[in-house]
Amino acid sequence: ASTYQHILTETRGKVALVTLNRPKALNALCNDLFVEVNDAMKNFDDDENIGAIVLTGSEKAFAAGADIKEMKDNNFVDTYKKDFLGHWAKISDVKKPIIAAVNGYALGGGCELAMSCDIIYAGEKAVFGQPEINLGIIPGAGGTQRLVRAVGKSRAMEMVLGGGANLTATEAQSLGLVSKVVPADQLIDEAVKTASKIASKSQASVQMGKELINKSFEVPLSAGLRWERAYFQALFGTADQKEGMGAFAEKRKPNFTNN
Ligand code: CAA
Repeated sequence: ASTYQHILTETRGKVALVTLNRPKALNALCNDLFVEVNDAMKNFDDDENIGAIVLTGSEKAFAAGADIKEMKDNNFVDTYKKDFLGHWAKISDVKKPIIAAVNGYALGGGCELAMSCDIIYAGEKAVFGQPEINLGIIPGAGGTQRLVRAVGKSRAMEMVLGGGANLTATEAQSLGLVSKVVPADQLIDEAVKTASKIASKSQASVQMGKELINKSFEVPLSAGLRWERAYFQALFGTADQKEGMGAFAEKRKPNFTNN
């Protein structure tokens, strides 16, 4: 049993499920909640029996953003010195794939948290938006960076500068932010299904694939391609490569052992 206050954790086979659970505040991401998310992610990342993680919220809200009441009296010097929200970036250090299963509101920091994950599935009534401008601020955890890559410049400008123009689930899918839209009550099962499939593969290859796709946003194409080839070549040093290719040749299913 976990001792968390604002999240719930469970495992389903090789999949870990992390559920944001601060219903009174629509899962607003207060500091303590994010500390717990980071802790749970780190533990599951270190757990050899886990191959992939699903992050979800409630049916009404994935997360309604950073906690406005908690931060409203912050001043510049303190936010700067203590690097306010800096620890949110830790989720990017998780090596295992994270699927965000988004029902309801994913606003501000909630949208940014979903975009920090590797795959986003949405329930039919999901809403994605960056309303920070309405509070006299701007997004602070990727809304001006990751959103552009996901939906393009014009749409990102509308959302970030206008503070409205929220994306519905189907719009988010058509733009590529979301890869699957399902009825709300099937969302978690669908995300767990995909996570289970990923978790059945060889972890080294899965983690390299994730690392390289994320690297494609960071480095020039030629460098990314070189990294890819080097990792591809490295995988010939694994037992799982022998197993995967051997199983194909013998017309049977592979049984990966993460070696
Ligand atoms: N922070 C703190 N509390 C929040 C919150 C937030 N981001 N979002 C909702 N809540 C609280 C409300 O204050 C309310 O609490 P009380 O019952 O104690 O009054 C409770 O959650 C329920 O919310 P509402 O009554 O407002 O619910 P609603 O269904 O009428 O509206 C909503 C839902 C449209 C999502 C509305 O709550 C809302 O606009 N929330 C704020 C969204 C927002 O501006 N997010 C950006 C935050 S800034 C940020 O995230 C910075 C960053 O980039 C990291």
